[in-house]
Amino acid sequence: MINKTNVFVLVIFCIILLSCSSIFRYDTNVRTVASPDGSVKLTFTLLDEQPTYSMSYKDTEIIENSSLGYRFKTLAPLLGKFELDKMDERSFSETWETVWGERRKVDNNYNELMVYLSEKEGAQRKLNVYFRVFNDGIGFRYEIPEQEGLTDLQITSEETAFNFPKDHSIWFQPCDTLSRVWENGYNTYERLYENSKVSELSTLVHTPVTIETDEGVFITIHEANLTDYPSMVLTKGKQAKDLKSDLVPWPDGVKVKTTAPMKSPWRTIQVSDKLSGLVESDMILNLNEPNVIEDVSWIQPMKYIGIWWEMHLNKSTWESGPRHGANTENTVKYIDFAAENGFGGVLVEGWNTGWEVWTTAPDFSFVNPYPDYDLDYLAKYSKEKGVGLIGHHETSGDAEAYEKQIEEAFQLMEDKGIHALKTGYVGYIRPTGQNHHGQWMVKHYRRVLELAAKHKINLVAHEPIKPTGIRRTYPNMLSREAMRGMEYNAWSSGNPPEHMTILAYTMMLAGPLDYTPGIFQANLDQFRKGNSIHTTVANQLALYVVIFSPVQMAADLPEHYQGNPAFQFIKDVAVNWETSRLIDGEIGDYVVTARKQRGSDDWFLGAITDENPRDLVVSFDFLDEGKTYVAEIYEDAENASFNHNPELVDISKHLVSSTTKHKLKLAPGGGQAIRFRPAVEEDLKTLNQL
Ligand code: NOJ
Repeated sequence: MINKTNVFVLVIFCIILLSCSSIFRYDTNVRTVASPDGSVKLTFTLLDEQPTYSMSYKDTEIIENSSLGYRFKTLAPLLGKFELDKMDERSFSETWETVWGERRKVDNNYNELMVYLSEKEGAQRKLNVYFRVFNDGIGFRYEIPEQEGLTDLQITSEETAFNFPKDHSIWFQPCDTLSRVWENGYNTYERLYENSKVSELSTLVHTPVTIETDEGVFITIHEANLTDYPSMVLTKGKQAKDLKSDLVPWPDGVKVKTTAPMKSPWRTIQVSDKLSGLVESDMILNLNEPNVIEDVSWIQPMKYIGIWWEMHLNKSTWESGPRHGANTENTVKYIDFAAENGFGGVLVEGWNTGWEVWTTAPDFSFVNPYPDYDLDYLAKYSKEKGVGLIGHHETSGDAEAYEKQIEEAFQLMEDKGIHALKTGYVGYIRPTGQNHHGQWMVKHYRRVLELAAKHKINLVAHEPIKPTGIRRTYPNMLSREAMRGMEYNAWSSGNPPEHMTILAYTMMLAGPLDYTPGIFQANLDQFRKGNSIHTTVANQLALYVVIFSPVQMAADLPEHYQGNPAFQFIKDVAVNWETSRLIDGEIGDYVVTARKQRGSDDWFLGAITDENPRDLVVSFDFLDEGKTYVAEIYEDAENASFNHNPELVDISKHLVSSTTKHKLKLAPGGGQAIRFRPAVEEDLKTLNQL
């Protein structure tokens, strides 16, 4: 029976319960938040006044209690001596549409823990940490909120630890001294990835790194939304099996120069018991802000060709002279070839004055063409042909000089109707002492991107800052190099056959890469004795599917494509996808990827292997059920391999369906590329089942 006394007792009871729970919530110093499906768990612990976090996946410990905090040049560190002000939680769920990408729709579901800390004594400075817990990993970031006395922050160390329960195997790119023009590893992502135990690391390493545990769990550490902050690299942690964040410095050694309020980029730890879980994860994108560009009609994924490989082969030159590549006549030849074969753009390198001394004393103009390059005529001619010119701004690292000309240069591009640009930063950065991956350059790359958006310019950056998902916010950030590209095959000992079978599970996890595949003349003796591309041509074709980039170059000379039936695959393959799947693979061994073209019923499959031949069985169960497709197969010929007859490709057509099981035979350094298109009446009459 309900009477006044009962209600009163009930109310008092509820108040006591609520206040107990609030004591429980705020004084316990430990809080665990699970991902929406419960597989990933993040625990925040204020351990002896020190903020720490740990993480598990399907009840396997991934990260042990690991510290969080900052050290400064002049201020006392923000480490330890904290108390909890409060912790809040929220859940978020959305599905958003990409302007272009590996898939059209992206699910963004997470539970978030917001931790608000104050120092117990002294200035009682505040530090907040935000954790987002996704089904495929966690992201966390620091916030130093606005507060008195923290206007000039000179951060000398971000004390983020990644403590592992065991000494794992790690795939990493060293960040150390390079012999060429680079002074140190803060300036290049163009080293080969290596594999060792974490305890055996002897250098700083770039992110992303990919870790494989003995229990078969895959982990990637990287960062998202790198804005106004230096790149995070990783160094040895507290114990040999652990890692810790380090940041690329300013010339005076300070890492971050900022002022409160400030937010760090997200530190990301993706995890899965399948490699496909890492490859298909959208967590990095989800930790970036939504698209800020309203009219995206000018943002165009495309395939392109260019006056490029011929300079790397030393067939022609960037600088003017008798062998100048970027002359009007040659550019017309490329534009015609692009128009005939359906390419969206022609990149022209060496069109502008300054190349005579580009590596020694860069003094580029980004508005003055060489006299034999008729920019006005070529801009008009390419437009008539329905092909876009792709501008090129090689700064040779002189970002300071570039910034002085950039407004004028971008205006020139806009005036001439040029909507795509490749930038480059070969060599030392000016201002002197700045690093490619330091805070100053991160801001520079962003200034260029934002200004490009203002002038409706799509951007492909070489010698860039690594991808951290900014393409979600600025979809005009189409692609970047951020790895050892095809060019190394032209003028060095080259990339080993396994190169892309590692990149697919490491750097490619961070975002699109401009590798520039499609070399059909594998043996380069004619141009540079002893050089070759170390894969078969079928492998080169498969790279268009294995590598995700909304711009893909057909990098070889037009004359090497003419008359070659394998060129049809490059003409057919898509660059923008409805969906993408890793079908099979192992780090450093092989990759099998399938993608469905956006706005079409076609599917594409790309398979590549390292130096070892491989027989694989692949099910076509990704195809629409009940439909008959034609599989147009480009495979290594019987006696092809990367070092013997690499150019031999067998092409065949067969009827297939979602129940077909296909035997993939990959030569050493080989590959296979398949286009699937819905079969038409004629195909059913003329072709056989696979
Ligand atoms: C290095 C870039 O990666 C390459 O693509 C370009 O051709 C040269 N720099 C010259 O800018």
